[in-house]
Amino acid sequence: MQPIALPIVEGKYNLKNYEEAYKTFDWSEVEKEFTWYETGKVNMAYEAIDKHCETHRKNKVALYYSDANRDEQYTFLDLKRLSNKFANILKELGIVKGDRVFIFMPRSPELYTAALGTIKTGAILGPLFEAFMREAVKDRLADSEAVAIVTTPELLARIPISELPTLKHIILVGDADENDQGHISYQDEMSRASDQFEIEWVDREDGLVLHYTSGSTGKPKGVLHVHNAMIQQYQTAKWVLDLQEEDVYWCTADPGWVTGTAAGMFGPWLNGASNVVRGGRFSPDDWYQTIEKFNVTIWYSAPTAFRMLMGAGDESVKKYNLSTLRHVLSVGEPLNPEVVHWGLRVFEKRIHDTWWMTETGAQTICNYPCMEIKPGSMGKPVPGIIAAIVDDEGNELPPNRMGNLAIKQGWPSMMRQIWNSPEKYDEYFQTKGWYVSGDSAFMDEDGYFWFQGRIDDVIMTAGERVGPFEIESKLIEHPAIAEAGVIGKPDAARGEIIKAFIALRNGYDATDDLLEEIRNFVKTGLAAHAAPREIEVKEKLPKTRSGKIMRRVLKAWELGLATGDLSTLED
Ligand code: WT7
Repeated sequence: MQPIALPIVEGKYNLKNYEEAYKTFDWSEVEKEFTWYETGKVNMAYEAIDKHCETHRKNKVALYYSDANRDEQYTFLDLKRLSNKFANILKELGIVKGDRVFIFMPRSPELYTAALGTIKTGAILGPLFEAFMREAVKDRLADSEAVAIVTTPELLARIPISELPTLKHIILVGDADENDQGHISYQDEMSRASDQFEIEWVDREDGLVLHYTSGSTGKPKGVLHVHNAMIQQYQTAKWVLDLQEEDVYWCTADPGWVTGTAAGMFGPWLNGASNVVRGGRFSPDDWYQTIEKFNVTIWYSAPTAFRMLMGAGDESVKKYNLSTLRHVLSVGEPLNPEVVHWGLRVFEKRIHDTWWMTETGAQTICNYPCMEIKPGSMGKPVPGIIAAIVDDEGNELPPNRMGNLAIKQGWPSMMRQIWNSPEKYDEYFQTKGWYVSGDSAFMDEDGYFWFQGRIDDVIMTAGERVGPFEIESKLIEHPAIAEAGVIGKPDAARGEIIKAFIALRNGYDATDDLLEEIRNFVKTGLAAHAAPREIEVKEKLPKTRSGKIMRRVLKAWELGLATGDLSTLED
């Protein structure tokens, strides 16, 4: 059954006619926007910030920041000067183009300053979500051979410095105590650094940002994006986010994830937009207040957040004046039609679903203001992008057939490397020039794409992507655990929750205390969002003859389905 499409709401949008643009648009039209067109060199931080200081936007607010204790605003000129200072600090430490500089701290103006300053030196930015614990931090810093990290005194204990031989510089933001001696004080250095800096001009294909993300096997992988990604990040922020001069834009994602960099910093600032950043944790009242306080016009969030807002009830929406909102978008997981209808009712706005991934580097399949929305559909490919449903050999399937969601190789913001792993990188591009996403979907006869699920075992819980392997590896480090298999279990609020099946070693009993201890073991070892909400103890787990735990069978157990082909099962 096809749901009723939501009609276009008339307005002056940047993208006026999707079908027309899809037929005629060429990325080369966008290349003229950036310095390389004339000089052959470029730098994302210049295009996002400094460039606007040569225009009427110089004193425009680039960043509105607030949390429970702070309420600040920064113009483009402020961010230019502050990031110059930070770039000077790094340069004096000897940081050069291509070095990996990590930022591991909660959202704050200092995070954005450090990120932009890092990019100005030509170094590669490694953003790490603040919730990561010691093991997760170590894996990422070790794999990337990071040379410097910007963090806070509170998070310092999670960085195993002595086990990271390449890590030379620790820059601490916030009041350090005597234990933190020997590290660099952000405040002290910023107060004396010069606010003039000669930007390191790089090639389009030089590294910009390294995001670690989870797959179904192995440790998290470092997805490298290059400065060239700006072409697509700029253009999608124009067309999909529909950023215009007077807009106030709020993307709720943390820069630890690709949404928070590509759509939370680069895209909006490339377009000279005013960006809102709210620190602290999610609460419905806090979020509505943020929209009201900053007169947010464009709001980009995730299904999990919308579902939680929906759960908080219509009364909480009515307390606030949200009339400035003109465009609402979603990303990260399937956007339920029910949520779209709720959005229509309470905000009187269509919520525009967008589909992309860490690997795509920018929005890829989307709903646009100038297009009808079919609730439940991710929309249509961005002009300039070719998407299709292909079979396992890379043959395109006709409409309404389910298969692999694939993107034609070579879009501007495509990842350029899996750090340290060319083999893994190549695995994505095995089928006739298609990048195979790992999602299954179908395309209807009108060209709308419909998400069906993940093909691999990757778990999407509350909008966060978690690899089962990383959790399983952590679980079996626990002395009580002999075997562990982890799956995503469908959940109305979170999309999926993490469920672990474990087999205990001899001599251990499955007491509530033990299960709680195991949960905490993952929470404190990896990250809170990686801890299994449910743990089920089994005598033995289903394994292949080569000893690989069959998550497919665990999932079938969980859902009460047939287990399918078990010919490779151990016994
Ligand atoms: C996976 C990528 C950059 C987006 C943040 C997540 C799922 C993403 C949608 C959507 C259904 C979606 C896919 C994808 N996903 N957007 N609109 N509808 N599923 O980036 O952590 O790299 O995860 O998120 O499964 O493969 P990520």
